[in-house]
Amino acid sequence: MKQPRVELIGTGRHVPEHILTNADLETMVDTSDKWILERTGIRERRIATADETLAFMGKLACEQVLESAGVDVMDVDTIIVGTASPDRLLPSQACDLQATLGAENAAAFDVGAACSGFLYALAVAEGLVVSGQARHVLVVGAERLSKITDYQDRSTCILFGDGVGATLVRARQERDRGILSSYLKTDGTLAELLYRPGGGAVHPPSLEMLNDRSYYLRMAGPETFKHAVVKMADACHEVLARAGMSPDDVDVLIPHQANLRIIEATAKRIGIPVEKAFVNIDRYGNTSAASIPMALDECVREGRITEGSTVLMVAFGGGLTWGATLVRW
Ligand code: UT7
Repeated sequence: MKQPRVELIGTGRHVPEHILTNADLETMVDTSDKWILERTGIRERRIATADETLAFMGKLACEQVLESAGVDVMDVDTIIVGTASPDRLLPSQACDLQATLGAENAAAFDVGAACSGFLYALAVAEGLVVSGQARHVLVVGAERLSKITDYQDRSTCILFGDGVGATLVRARQERDRGILSSYLKTDGTLAELLYRPGGGAVHPPSLEMLNDRSYYLRMAGPETFKHAVVKMADACHEVLARAGMSPDDVDVLIPHQANLRIIEATAKRIGIPVEKAFVNIDRYGNTSAASIPMALDECVREGRITEGSTVLMVAFGGGLTWGATLVRW
């Protein structure tokens, strides 16, 4: 018997209400709306209040997923969360989400792959479903990056926002739809292009850390940019080749929303018209692991993705990590 495909059967997202505009940032650091818009494509991003925890936002996003999938929360047997900014370091974000959601029958754990976290989590979910270890897996990308962003560093603080996106996967015996191929890659030697120096076991929290701001996220922007375009395009070519397909077969490209110029350059390098690339970075900024599932949900609800659409998702982030997933919706 052939292996089942793994299909995505629901989507959902939640973003905080509070909007941080480029004009707001002009009052915080030496920057301008013009620079931010021209260099990144971002106009505004959402920032969570103290009450808008990832568990809270995740619950709202997952409830939408379950409603759109027509699946009861008690039938969820696994929750996987991709995040780099969990509510707390122990237990995992997925445990807190499981409790808030009331998904009593689910095992829950996080995947640490920064901005690639959602696609890494989706690949793990695919494996659990194909091997028969799980039936309904909630796959979540969730970030409250505002809590690890240095609002004195203009090169990073203009980029990041908060939000959660999610989907549900299950097996499908008919092989006409579902995940066609996926590809994950890492280069840990480039970790210090995008990382948080302090706060872990090597540099545990200290008063010094508050002064040198090493608790916050740091990024070598231009160098990261170059890797992003090349590696995302490579990942797309790889998943297309594995599925025996070409760039022309793709209906919708959902790239990680890191920078509009990265999205445009990546689409060009893959050989996909830029109009096929979904963009919402103008409204949400870079939400790391949440950006792809948030975009996916938006595409589905807007009718940009419909039954039979070929969807190419591609991510890149700290690690460095990158990957792509090709899905027939
Ligand atoms: O999500 C994970 C992966 N993330 C990425 O892939 C992000 C990759 N990197 C980027 O998106 C871009 O590199 C940035 C948006 C972070 C920066 O854009 P850039 O075009 O690469 O700018 P740059 O760092 O080369 O800086 C150009 C100039 C510098 O000034 P000088 O040295 O030319 O005088 C910066 O100091 O722009 C200056 N600058 C700013 N000016 C106004 C840097 N940040 C700002 C700012 N406002 N916010």
